[in-house]
Amino acid sequence: MTETPAASSLGRIQHVTVLGAGTMGSQIAMVSALAGFSTTCVDIAAEPLERARQELWRRVDRDVEKGRRTAEDVAAAKERLSFSTDRDAVVAHTDLVIEAAVENLEVKREIFASMDQVAPEHTILTTNSSNIVSSKVADATGRPEKVCNMHFFNPALVMQAVEVVPNGQTSAQTVATVKALAEAFGKTVVELKREIPGFVANRMVAALRKEALDLLDAGVADVESIDAAAKAALNHPMGPFELMDLVGIDVAYLIRQAEYEQTGDEASLPHPLLKAKYESGDYGRKTGKGWYTYSED
Ligand code: 3HC
Repeated sequence: MTETPAASSLGRIQHVTVLGAGTMGSQIAMVSALAGFSTTCVDIAAEPLERARQELWRRVDRDVEKGRRTAEDVAAAKERLSFSTDRDAVVAHTDLVIEAAVENLEVKREIFASMDQVAPEHTILTTNSSNIVSSKVADATGRPEKVCNMHFFNPALVMQAVEVVPNGQTSAQTVATVKALAEAFGKTVVELKREIPGFVANRMVAALRKEALDLLDAGVADVESIDAAAKAALNHPMGPFELMDLVGIDVAYLIRQAEYEQTGDEASLPHPLLKAKYESGDYGRKTGKGWYTYSED
């Protein structure tokens, strides 16, 4: 890969693997490629990878049209970013993994255990999960000191923050490397001292979202008015319902469910209105309908 100052300060981190070609994984992979790292986005099937590639190419081409990036930078990033369905082969030659697969603990434990078998000894294994803290997957590996959460925000190409969250066994060296990587990605690091499901930003979002759903449920105001209050009264870029549609109703639901599984506290359970929306299959922008209805473009 091309040596960039950011990459050289990271020592051994030259190749980054992102697991999952969904909204988060695909954009994280492009963030990494744009920052100068040789990057592979891995998924279980070719179809989501091709969909992700087309969407990413469209986004970065638009950045060039709008003068936000140079054609040379975008062409170089496309060169650095590859797509694969062969997880073991990719992980066998990578320096750092960012897992952005489904929010399901059993699936993640299986992924971490099998990556641990094939990854080089120095490879750091991170998860983008905001709710499944890394201690839950670290003990599925023989390298808990090289496991932590590296949590991006949607849309990852735009949002500045990355939360870096050590588990009780994560080494100071791993934290330093992951922080340096996030900085090399051009992001602002939010470092947590210890794990807590949801971390900092999502816990604040969850509190706002719960109040918005309670207000809707009580018939105090409708979706549009509650979103209008967040935007016009609080200067939030999006209202809580618009944000659920952006992040995905399924993701918002599974995050609550995963938190409940960790805490056993009924207050963690998805709000009944969120549950009903999830069960209806209207997941937000990705399905064309959520709290709002979206047209093709
Ligand atoms: N992907 C990539 N880039 C996007 C994008 C997307 N989905 N949506 C917008 N952008 C970029 C584009 O460059 C776009 O410019 P373009 O249309 O000329 O190409 C630019 O942002 C501006 O977009 P818009 O004019 O459509 O709208 P906004 O100015 O409102 O920006 C936004 C969109 C950046 C998404 C802004 O509304 C925002 O910041 N919203 C809040 C997002 C937020 O809170 N995210 C955190 C969610 S919590 C989370 O992710 C945690 C996880 O664990 C679930």
